[in-house]
Amino acid sequence: MILLESAADLRVHLDSARRGGASIGFVPTMGAFHEGHRSLMRAARAAHDLVVVSLFVNPLQFGPGEDLDRYPRDPTGDLEVVREEGVDVLFTPGVAEMYPGHPEPPLTTVHVASLSEGLCGTGRPGHFDGVATVVAKLFALVGPCTAYFGRKDAQQLAVVRRLVADLGLPVEVVGCPLVRESDGLALSSRNRNLIPEQRRAATVLYRALRAGADLVMGGERDAGRLRRVVANVATNEELARLEYAEVVGTGDLSPMETLSGEVLVAVAARVGGVRLIDNMTVTVKADGTASVDLGVMTEGEVVCAAR
Ligand code: PAF
Repeated sequence: MILLESAADLRVHLDSARRGGASIGFVPTMGAFHEGHRSLMRAARAAHDLVVVSLFVNPLQFGPGEDLDRYPRDPTGDLEVVREEGVDVLFTPGVAEMYPGHPEPPLTTVHVASLSEGLCGTGRPGHFDGVATVVAKLFALVGPCTAYFGRKDAQQLAVVRRLVADLGLPVEVVGCPLVRESDGLALSSRNRNLIPEQRRAATVLYRALRAGADLVMGGERDAGRLRRVVANVATNEELARLEYAEVVGTGDLSPMETLSGEVLVAVAARVGGVRLIDNMTVTVKADGTASVDLGVMTEGEVVCAAR
C-alpha cells in the first residue's frame, strides 16, 4: 500500500498503472472508516487490478455552522482498514492541494441543478455543490476508473451519476448496498459522535422505514400515506428531531403521488447535534407487486427484500 498526498504523484502513479493495462477501482471517502466503507473497498478489490481510496474531509461541502470541525477523524484506524482491505493507494491530499487558492473558495464549482435542491439540499444549501465539485476534481485526478459509492447517500449518488452523464466523464459509477448495524442503524462515520442514549434513539430512522416497508408490503401504494406513516414513527422519539421524510423517484428525486417503478423513501433527523440520514428503495412493478430494499446487515444478511 502506498500513501500519496500530492495530486501530481497520484497522476504519475495511476497513468503508469493504466499504461501497464491496469483497471482502477476508486473509492472516494472522508475517512473514519466503518463496515460500509469496507464494503466499497471490497467491491473495488474484487473487480479491479488497482484499488485507490481517497481520504479528504472536504470543507466545501460543509456549510457555516455545520460539523466540519467535529467530523470524526481517525487516521491511525483508517490506515489499518485500508491495509486490511488490500487497498493499493491511499490518497490523502491537504486542503491546499485540492483547492490551490485556499482559504479563498475556488472560482470554479460544479452545480447539478434540481437534484441538489430537495431532500438534504433544503437544509444544507450548497452541500451538493461542494460534493459535486470535489468529486469532479477527484475523478479528474484519478482518471478513467470505476467509482464506488454507498446507497445510504442516495441523493449524493443521484447527483454524481448525473454529473458523470452530463460532463461525459470516463467513470463508471457503482452504487453499493447501504449497510446496517444489527439493530438497524445505518452505518455512518457520524455515528461515532453519538453518546449511548442518542445511539439508542438513532434507530428511530430504521424503525420508521420498517413501518413504511410493512405498509408497502401490505399493499399500500399511496405515497402521501406512506410518507405520513414514516414521518409519524420518526417523530415518535424524544431525542430525535425529524428534518424530512420524503417519497420520491430514485432517478429525478421528484415527489410522487402513487408508488410506481423505483421509489426512494428518504429520511433525515438530528439526534443531539448529529445529523443522520437513512433510506429504503421500493420497487413497484407493472403488475403491482412490490419489493423493498433496506440494505444489508454488517453480517451480510439482506434486509427485507420480500416480494
Ligand atoms: O460520501 C462522502 O464521504 C463524501 O461526500 C465524498 C463523496 C467523499 C465527497 O467528499
